[in-house]
Amino acid sequence: MLANEMTEKERMIRRLIKEALHAREFSYAPYSGYCVGAALLTQEGEIYTGCNIENAAYSPTNCAERTAFFKAVSEGRKHFIAIAVAGGPNGKTITQYAYPCGVCRQVMMEFCDPKEFEVISAKSENEYEIRPLEAYLPYGFGPANIAD
Ligand code: THU
Repeated sequence: MLANEMTEKERMIRRLIKEALHAREFSYAPYSGYCVGAALLTQEGEIYTGCNIENAAYSPTNCAERTAFFKAVSEGRKHFIAIAVAGGPNGKTITQYAYPCGVCRQVMMEFCDPKEFEVISAKSENEYEIRPLEAYLPYGFGPANIAD
């Protein structure tokens, strides 16, 4: 039973990474040349993808993770299980893990339980690291802190 559950989870992780790598192909990164893709799994079982979208004025740039979150939230989804992220220089094999930036971690904190939500940083479907959001944003500030 446990082995089956592990297999199911592993299969979903691989699927998310595959979707993130596919989304990365749409990355618009003419300024940094660093292309990122993300795939976000909702509690309903859907996957929302995103890529980084840069801008000539630089600061309007949106990361792949936030693109995926904003797509999902703008379509009514608010409960999330995990996100896969894959990034690296345009046209090259990914050799390093891409970890979410501080702004994206804060956006995740808004919608996700930091102990439950899992962040998967991937080089390929077989090479990845997985950690709870809490590991990336310890003592994070979120909606629970504002509530009484
Ligand atoms: N970027 C992401 O999209 N996600 C990350 O996890 C790290 C950084 C983007 C922002 C910018 O377009 C480029 O990568 C270089 O920082």
